[in-house]
Formats: sequence, C-alpha cells, structure tokens
Amino acid sequence: MDSVGVLVWLSIVVTILSKSHADRNVYPSAGVLFVHVLEREYFKGEFPPYPKPGDASNDPITFNTNLMGYPDRPGWLRYIQRTPHSDGVLYGSPTSELVGKPTVIEITAYNRRTFETARHNLIINIMSTEDFPLPYQAEFFIKNMNVEEMLASEVLGDFLGAVKNVWQPERLNAINITSALDRGGRVPLPINDLKEGVYVMVGADVPFSSCLREVETPQNQLRCSQEMEPVISCDKKFRAQFHIDWCKISLVDITKVVPVHREKAEPGTGILPDMGEYKPPSETLESRDYFADFLITLAVPSAVALVLLLILGYSMCCRREGVEKRNMQTPDIQLVHHSSIQKSTKELRSMSKNREISWPLSTLPVFHHVSGEVVPPIHRDNYETTSMPLMQTQTNLQSQMQIPRQQPSGKWYS
Ligand SMILES: *[C@@H]1O[C@H](CO)[C@@H](O)[C@H](O)[C@H]1NC(C)=O
Repeated sequence: MDSVGVLVWLSIVVTILSKSHADRNVYPSAGVLFVHVLEREYFKGEFPPYPKPGDASNDPITFNTNLMGYPDRPGWLRYIQRTPHSDGVLYGSPTSELVGKPTVIEITAYNRRTFETARHNLIINIMSTEDFPLPYQAEFFIKNMNVEEMLASEVLGDFLGAVKNVWQPERLNAINITSALDRGGRVPLPINDLKEGVYVMVGADVPFSSCLREVETPQNQLRCSQEMEPVISCDKKFRAQFHIDWCKISLVDITKVVPVHREKAEPGTGILPDMGEYKPPSETLESRDYFADFLITLAVPSAVALVLLLILGYSMCCRREGVEKRNMQTPDIQLVHHSSIQKSTKELRSMSKNREISWPLSTLPVFHHVSGEVVPPIHRDNYETTSMPLMQTQTNLQSQMQIPRQQPSGKWYS
C-alpha cells in the first residue's frame, strides 16, 4: 500500500516537473508545410484555478511566440490567433538551410482573466527530405477561406485530396500557406461572411495535368482579363468546399526555372567605400586633466571680477563726494532760501493733516459729467461731521461751491 502511494506521488511529481519544463519536440521536413496548433485546452491546465468570478473554462488566452533569445519568430514561421477564445496556430515552410539546427520557440500563454502566464518551449528539429524540392509547384488562391481555417488538418486534407484527384501525382505535399493579407489583400467588409482568402502552394512530382493548364488557353486568358471567371472543367471537384480563383493560379516547374544570375551590384555614388572592420573604442577611458579648463573657465573671470570689485570699492569709499561737499559749493544765500522753503512746506503739511478733510478740492468733480453744469462737490463727511477742527474750512467750502477752484489754492499759498 505504501509503495503504491509513493509511486503515485512520484508519478504526480514527474508529471508536474515534465509539465513545468514542457519542452515539445517536433520534426517537420524542410520544404513541407509545418503546422503546430497551440491548444487553449492544453494551456488551461497550466493556470491555477483561481476562485475568481467568471467561467474559468472559458478564460481568454493569448499567446506570445518568439525564437529563444530573440524578440520575434524566425522569418519562415508565422503565427495566427483570431480571437482569445480560439486556438493559436504556428505555421510556415521551413527552409533547407535550417536542417540540423534545432529551432527553439518560446511560447508564453497569457490568461487574460487571471493574468497568469505559462511558458513552454517548442523545439523544431527540421529534417531534410530526399524528394526536396518537389519539382512541380502550383499555387492556388482560395477565396472563401481564412488562413486559420485552411490550416485545420481536415480542411487541408480535403483540399489536397481534391488536388490529387485532378492532378494524379505520386507524391503531393502542401508547401506553403499565405494569408491574402500578407500579399496585399484587404480585410473584407463584415458582411455576407466574406473571407480574406488564402494562397496554398502544393508541390508534386508529375507535370501539371491538362485540367490545371486549362486556364492558359486564349479564351480563358481573355475572360480573366475581363474579370470574368474562366471555364475550368475540374472546378466542380473543388466547388463544394473551395472557391478557387483560377486566374490567380501560378504553375512553376522548378526544373525549367532559369536560375537568376545575380551580379554583385556596383556601389553607386551614395555608398561609402569599404573602410574595413569597425573597431569600437576601448572600454576603459583614460583620466583627463581638467586643470587648464578650470583655470580658463573659473579663475580668469574671478580675477577680472576681483579687479572690478577693487576699483568700485576704492571709488565708493575714498572718492565719495557727499552732502558736505555739495553744501560747501553752494552759495549761502541759496541754502538759506532752500531751507526756508522746506520749513514752510513742512509746516503746511502738518497743518493740512489737522484738517481731516478727506480729499483736496482739486480731486472732486466740478462739472456734471453729462450735463456739464457746475456741481457742488459732494462730500458726505464734510457736512455731517462735527469733529471738524477748523470751522473756517467749512465756510470756505460753501463759498467755493460756485467759484472756480483756482482761487482756493491761490488763497492758501498767498
Ligand atoms: C511561404 O510563404 C511566405 C509568405 O508569403 C514566404 O515569405 C515564404 O518565403 C514562403 N516559403 C516558401 C518556402 O515558399
């Protein structure tokens, strides 16, 4: 009983360990379409069951895929996930240069409800194929499919079956699948369940059948140029499931393709000559002497400032000409005159302080601003206050009501 318990416990530990380091190996062939589905169901088990409200079985899950140590996938590998509630699909056509080098793809699954993540590695070991490449390659454009629908193995199997039926090859492989959006196609309007369209390239070992070549006849070329559907006898083999745009079919016999001879491009005028290898500056920097810079930027201006300070200090302290000197230069009679004016001004000021009349008459309006009549200065305080120190002022004011205002000032100063 005990040993059974230990075994069960061990197997649980082993499954947990293998789950946490779930490295999956896949062995696609070079030049043959590779499809790997990232199943939501599989990754759901990775997230701990959080007691959060919501239907845990329907959590939105998204995936991030990248080549290990790099931010993106390798160029041949594409990824699509239409919604967070559908599976993600990695697909592409591995190239033969990658044979023998395992490609490690990091797959990170995000639960968009609990924000949990899970990390897996997918190790793609690309195998070489002896019948690579298949010499006759045909690319079909299927109008009524999106790329992820076409990647489902049963749909792709149906399509290959139909192609086999009209071509009769010994071997037939799907080579590549491309969304029409990657070839400049447009996202369709969300009406009538329109699809983006998808290009499927297949390769076979026998020449193209007569049916596949029917589109090359002059009549069909004419219909294609007029944007009419060409008449293809074997279209009915596809029609039930796949709407093929026969005008866009491309048939390539790679044994006849003349290899394009690429000459090394002559560098134009805008290209710099080869300067050899780039040598970065060394990591360790030598210490630099900043003393001369210090002298120029700080010491010289401070010396100038000091000289200016001395000149200014000397002229302020030792060459000052004050009130005494001014008085000595002024004739006595002027000084006496001046001081007597000052004295009387002071006296007048102190007298006016005692009056306590708020405003001098000159500041009150003399004329009505609309009618232009001479108006008595309205001075509420004047007539009501009893603490008026100089009664004379009151009588003055009353007599001034009708007379211009120059007179009081003249009277005051005379
Ligand atoms: C497969 O299709 C993609 C997208 O059009 C293209 O970049 C890639 O070169 C194709 N691969 C092969 C082997 O034809």
